[in-house]
Amino acid sequence: MKKLVLASNNAGKLREFSALLAPRGFELVPQGVLGVPEAEEPHVTFIENALAKARHASRLTGLPALADDSGVCVMALGGEPGVYSARYAERNGGEKSDAANNALVVERLRGATDRRAYYYAALVLTRSADDPQPLIGEGLWWGEIIEAPRGNGGFGYDPYFFLPALGRTAAELTPEEKNRLSHRAQALQALMGKLDAL
Ligand code: IMP
Repeated sequence: MKKLVLASNNAGKLREFSALLAPRGFELVPQGVLGVPEAEEPHVTFIENALAKARHASRLTGLPALADDSGVCVMALGGEPGVYSARYAERNGGEKSDAANNALVVERLRGATDRRAYYYAALVLTRSADDPQPLIGEGLWWGEIIEAPRGNGGFGYDPYFFLPALGRTAAELTPEEKNRLSHRAQALQALMGKLDAL
């Protein structure tokens, strides 16, 4: 197994990426296990934040590192929460929790007819801290924000992220289904294609 540091301690992401990468011969080690503190995410774009996180983890471990930056972009909210998805409520005077984030999005969408949203993921793999050619993958997953939560799977905005084609929310999918369809899965497919081509 090839060791890859995951520049995140998010248990949901670790589960999803490990399921996708193990069959390809990669062992994912969360950066916290190696004593790497969380990197700053100061940028206004997903891709810059993902690169900053991967580079930070590679620099402190000497290992290849994988980082993602992701979020949900709601059309009627001008693309918000976007890069601020994890901290949406906190930035608006609330607490930093999934429940508060979801409540704020639902509140701001009250009465809206256009409820389209997409999850976006930017994925960066740095082979070393000064890798001049990091591998990059992007993924985009369309859905609609509903008013009441459905399902217990996934994390974050999943109970409110409804997939019209499937008639279920992301939280109602099995982990296998989500790992096949999600923005992260799509980003990883794109990135893996590049890895194979190297
Ligand atoms: P990041 O850890 O900086 O990439 O922040 C991602 C945030 O976007 C998470 O904390 C969630 O709020 C949201 N998010 C990203 N991907 C998903 C997903 O698959 N399901 C639900 N929420 C997600």
